[in-house]
Amino acid sequence: MSTIHLPADSALLQNDFIFGVATAAFQIEGAASEREPCIWDTFCAEPGRIKDGSDGQIACDHVNRWQEDLELIAGLGVDAYRFSVSWGRIVRADGSINQQGLAFYTQLLDALTARNIKAFVTLYHWDLPQYLEDQGGWLNRNTAYRFAEYADIVSQAFGDKVYSYATLNEPFCSAYLGYEAGIHAPGQQNRQHGRQAAHHLLLAHGLAMPILRRNCPSALHGIVLNFSPCHAASTQPKDLQAAQLADLYHNQWYLQPLIEGRYPDLAGQLNAADMPVIAPGDLAIIAQPLDFLGVNYYTRTVFAARHDGWFTDIKPSTPPLTDMGWEIYPQGLTEILVQLAQRYALPPLYITENGAATVDIWQDGVVQDPLRLAYYQQHLLATDAAIRAGVNVCGYFAWSLLDNFEWAEGYAKRFGIVYVDYASQQRTLKASGQALQRLWQGRRD
Ligand code: NOJ
Repeated sequence: MSTIHLPADSALLQNDFIFGVATAAFQIEGAASEREPCIWDTFCAEPGRIKDGSDGQIACDHVNRWQEDLELIAGLGVDAYRFSVSWGRIVRADGSINQQGLAFYTQLLDALTARNIKAFVTLYHWDLPQYLEDQGGWLNRNTAYRFAEYADIVSQAFGDKVYSYATLNEPFCSAYLGYEAGIHAPGQQNRQHGRQAAHHLLLAHGLAMPILRRNCPSALHGIVLNFSPCHAASTQPKDLQAAQLADLYHNQWYLQPLIEGRYPDLAGQLNAADMPVIAPGDLAIIAQPLDFLGVNYYTRTVFAARHDGWFTDIKPSTPPLTDMGWEIYPQGLTEILVQLAQRYALPPLYITENGAATVDIWQDGVVQDPLRLAYYQQHLLATDAAIRAGVNVCGYFAWSLLDNFEWAEGYAKRFGIVYVDYASQQRTLKASGQALQRLWQGRRD
């Protein structure tokens, strides 16, 4: 029987450390006809966008199976469940509120409360209503104001049922992958658009924060960012510079305005024409005090210089790699946490996502996933190491509770600690899930 071990004196085993599992609306919910279409519905319908040609119409059918999923969560022994709310399930194109949509989440929240499981709610996990994209999406400043209204509706309705609100999940992905690299919805490829979308996303966060605080004064409010340490492909000065530039462009671009009210200085490296349009006062709105910062970590990234002075990432080739082709690099988690804590005056941190897509092997009715199990073991130790180095980490969420719709990769990449048979919608706890369950339940023995 495989287990996960932590040193007996680890802060992760203390009563106040929060362990949880995470999901996101579009990736698990299904029941697409009961909400407004979003940019990911549109993207999925475009041939060639999603590797296996799939979509989010049914996904894990969670809207119809939420009670079974809640039993699974409760059975794990976690303290918290992180999930996202689908904007288009709440606000219709005509601006009216979908009460049925609100009721879906309220019943879930009530059931979590009844089981003493804290709700970590993310308001935006990439599923922008298509009616807003039709007006320019995150390139339109107005979208930030619509987001603040949506945050108001949700936080008034949910109130104290929520332990923590995160405004956005990984704005890097919404902005860079969606509007600059074109591999996520809405699939645009334009550098200025990427920067502009990022700015409006951060503005949306800043506008929503005081509203969340007013409506739910006792909840913790913050944002979830993704980080990947940027390493240089060689010790040549041009590669070292490329890695530094990539770090500013991919990591610090999102955190520095939140904490310090300014964007990294890329003058000389970024054309003026590629800079976002920033209205006076925007950065002050963005730099709201945070109760927490959510950190999503998966891997590091290695960069080399391009001929034009920009950077390019080098695909990893040294095993072990995950099914995503990502290097398993647990020390990168310690590194990024320590680095961020040294560089900024940070609020308390939560690891809001960490996990791996790996091969699942069915053996006598058990799903064996040794690589995922090892991944969790190593990254929990990496979290422990960061805390020992003085970083204030208050919680850790496994990504993900369920196998689910992995965006442009479709359903072929499985991140769950619970296996989902999409034909039957049957859920089976994997060996990694069993090991985490023993760790989480063991804290109470
Ligand atoms: C981060 C995203 O928040 C989540 O939606 C995604 O499934 C994981 N990364 C894995 O790629």
